[in-house]
Amino acid sequence: MDLIKVQNDITKVLVTEAQIAQRVKELALELDTAYAGKDVLLVGVLKGAVMFMADLSRAIQIPVSMDWMAVSSYGSGTQSSGVVRILKDLDADVLGKHVLIVEDIIDSGLTLSWLKSNLSARGAASVEIVALLRKPDAAKVEVEVMLVGFDIPNEFVVGYGLDYNESYRTLKDVGVLAPSVYS
Ligand code: PRP
Repeated sequence: MDLIKVQNDITKVLVTEAQIAQRVKELALELDTAYAGKDVLLVGVLKGAVMFMADLSRAIQIPVSMDWMAVSSYGSGTQSSGVVRILKDLDADVLGKHVLIVEDIIDSGLTLSWLKSNLSARGAASVEIVALLRKPDAAKVEVEVMLVGFDIPNEFVVGYGLDYNESYRTLKDVGVLAPSVYS
């Protein structure tokens, strides 16, 4: 979906479609080097990471496998609590594999912190994270990340997979949602 279709709901574009495309290419190049010759499993976290996973995986030139997890964080409203429930687990066994978690955004860091330890405990050879977006000012726990696309301010962002009540995921850019939409 083009920005013009929802321009009244977006106060500011933080990352454009073109900037995302350029950064995805750069991230893929780094991953090709970092994982050359290794058995890599990309793990996408539903649903937000779908767009990033689709673009990043196709930009990567080394052979990789893909799998998906869906998790839900218990908490009140929009606040993540750090207690995570698996809604859909991986189909494949990660034993001995180099797992790369592909995420759309690191907000508090609680989901990824939990996911990283969960996958490490299953005997993966390594577990790393690539996240398109990160909000440094929202961090409640520090998560060690291999690669980040963009650090962004602590605002409510939607687009390129990120939603508000399941809307705006298909927007091509990442923008700040107008408070009038959710208040
Ligand atoms: C978002 C995002 C991460 C998590 C980050 O998912 O995709 O998984 O929140 O938040 P945290 O760093 O505070 O833990 P969400 O629960 O909104 O689900 P969705 O991807 O299906 O939209």
